[in-house]
Amino acid sequence: MQTDSSFTFVLFGGTGDLSMRKILPALYEAHRAGMLAASGKIVAVARHEEDRAGYLQWVNEHVKAHVAKSGIDENAWASFVDRIEYVKLDLGKAEDFVKLRDALQDQSATRVFYLATGPSLFVPICHALASVGLNENARIVLEKPLGYDLRSSNAINDAVGEIFAEEQIYRIDHYLGKEPVQNLLALRFGNALFEPLWRREWVESIQITIAEELGVEARGDFYDNTGALRDMVQNHLLQLLSIVAMEPPHSMDSDSVRDEKLRVLRALKPIDPRDISKVAVRGQYHAGVIRGTSVPAYATESGVKTDSATETFVALKVEIENWRWAGVPFFLRTGKRLADRVAEIVVNFRAVPHSALGASALRAGANRLVIRLQPNETIRLYCLAKKPGEGMNLSSVHLDLAFDQFFKEGQMEAYQRLLLDVINGRLALFVRRDEQEAAWKWVEPILNEWAASGKPKPYAAGTWGPAAASAMLAQHGTCWLEEEN
Ligand code: BG6
Repeated sequence: MQTDSSFTFVLFGGTGDLSMRKILPALYEAHRAGMLAASGKIVAVARHEEDRAGYLQWVNEHVKAHVAKSGIDENAWASFVDRIEYVKLDLGKAEDFVKLRDALQDQSATRVFYLATGPSLFVPICHALASVGLNENARIVLEKPLGYDLRSSNAINDAVGEIFAEEQIYRIDHYLGKEPVQNLLALRFGNALFEPLWRREWVESIQITIAEELGVEARGDFYDNTGALRDMVQNHLLQLLSIVAMEPPHSMDSDSVRDEKLRVLRALKPIDPRDISKVAVRGQYHAGVIRGTSVPAYATESGVKTDSATETFVALKVEIENWRWAGVPFFLRTGKRLADRVAEIVVNFRAVPHSALGASALRAGANRLVIRLQPNETIRLYCLAKKPGEGMNLSSVHLDLAFDQFFKEGQMEAYQRLLLDVINGRLALFVRRDEQEAAWKWVEPILNEWAASGKPKPYAAGTWGPAAASAMLAQHGTCWLEEEN
């Protein structure tokens, strides 16, 4: 499907890392697939390059390597590049915004301003756009991190909200654009099979893991001032949790979905600062080995303070205070330099209330649904079956659904889907302000407590994090489940 109308996509931070790695490759893929209206334009804005020729050279050098799936089709690339214009702009110069306005002459085109810049520039850019009237009939896209805590996030949202109405603001959480996350909605609300069991009566606990093998790469400086709680939990993990736990929405329109997610975020049991050590574990990686390669300790990464107390791993026990989920623990964890790259949701069902089949049934374990989001999208349902032969001995077996066996084509990267949604004016996969506030409110006691005292527990790179994370689950008679690939 092609975008509805003509558009002008203005990319602030046009020479930055995010533009090169994600945004321009995603726009190229959409273009190559014929999904962008023919008259749509991209206007890149940056300080560094003098003119369009210089900018296009930069794009040629830095973007092509990040076009993943299909490689580059030179004809499509040439016509994609034809869409790109360039405006050299210094944020401090009001006259440069006049120049930008003059470059955006097509009044009928949908205007998108994508701020792929640091958050400190969001408010100045919005003011400058408003000063030349460019905030009208436009959409603005804000990248995370949007703030550092509730107060700073509110300050940005207030300031941006004076210039753009909430329906004009698209806050990106790229996890919401991932195909498997969409599929989670399909699994839950497109099938009658799971929903009746998706509640406290049948579910014992739920785990959500986003594990990375990568370290902080070239972002040591940013990461050291951020940490895993702000970088991954406040946004991606709590968004996944809200989709796993939400009530069925009335429809898939933006506010129906976001209202239900918000209800979950508001129902998260507040964490009592005195209990933090019981329900939250933080870790920091030390030197170790991942897939046979030695990797250095976090504290020796470039840009990181040698005595840093920033967490690179978080594990949490979360509870939801409503009828559906009361008493069911949700265990969340995320970390850098872990043993594997995997994002997974594990739903542990309760054991049968009475085992007519004897002790082996209990030993073999209960049903479990494992939804793997990445690296390869699969759903695996564990059931018990009788082992062949004499006697009633049970064993755990599984039904597998590997999506790539069913759908060979049409997979879309998260950014591609989200950018098309912005151009088409679909807000459902973007975070509303009230959701963001609720998530900050919930994490804030942990942030404060961790800032005030103690240090993260060490873990060796290439492992599954500090032992305390396993001990937390052991208290609930369970353990983290690491699925085999
Ligand atoms: C980003 C974080 O939002 O998500 C990064 O800032 C993290 O630190 C990344 O590496 C993980 O995303 P994905 O899609 O690779 O799982």
